[in-house]
Amino acid sequence: MRIVIKETKADTGKWTADYIIDKIKAFAPTPEKPFVMGLPTGSSPMPVYEEWIRRYKAGEISFKNVVTFNMDEYVNLPEDHSESYHSFMYTNLFDHIDIPAENINILNGNAADLEKVCKDYEAKIKQYGGIELFLGGIGPDGHIAFNEPGSSLTSKTRVKTLSYDTILANSRFFNDDMSKVPTQALTVGVGTVMGAREVVIIITGFNKARAVREVIEGGISHMWTVSMLQLHEHAVISLDEPATMELQVESVKYFKDIEEISQSKMPIH
Ligand code: GLP
Repeated sequence: MRIVIKETKADTGKWTADYIIDKIKAFAPTPEKPFVMGLPTGSSPMPVYEEWIRRYKAGEISFKNVVTFNMDEYVNLPEDHSESYHSFMYTNLFDHIDIPAENINILNGNAADLEKVCKDYEAKIKQYGGIELFLGGIGPDGHIAFNEPGSSLTSKTRVKTLSYDTILANSRFFNDDMSKVPTQALTVGVGTVMGAREVVIIITGFNKARAVREVIEGGISHMWTVSMLQLHEHAVISLDEPATMELQVESVKYFKDIEEISQSKMPIH
């Protein structure tokens, strides 16, 4: 697991945005061989999306041959509701870049047969040959997508009931009214994320510090579902300083040293 620590949320977002743009460019996607990416919603990826939009507008990157699969969506929240993940993704990213509409995949939480939606989603990911890079965030309880504590670490896309903590955390988007937050969601599974060839998780802010400690210094546990990434061959966690506050000083120094050595062309004396 590669741990990259930057000072501020903005620095972390910029590093992550640049890292993924470099990956897309190196992949040189075409219509026949698109770059398939998993995407999250939430406040954590916002600086990444803002930077992608800026770089796109500057003519430095195109998303024409990028295919996206969003991580999750609420159940029974109209697509055009301002807090649906459909609205979030179009408002904060898709409306501002050149990704073709047919390349965008978001789970339909209003379908009559939700289980079919989930099965079809997994099948479509497979049809594309799997996900090249999954970008994700985490909840303060270490959940990835909507894989709440106790979720199967090999789970695939399915319907999940949200935990009290998540409903409380997300009520900030629903006028702080917990009764307005949907109680169920469709979500890719931990196993779906693990199936990606690379996973990049962006975690910022002190309220995620405890989860960061569990994920990096703790063991693999279904109580902190993102900890499963310890078993991924190519996982990157991108952190700002506040998110590292519960890590041991020694761990922070260790990961910073490794980054510095790997980025430095100079021999160590
Ligand atoms: C929700 C989403 C997650 C996201 C989390 C954190 O629970 N389902 O995918 O990672 O919120 O959101 P934020 O980045 O706003 O803290």
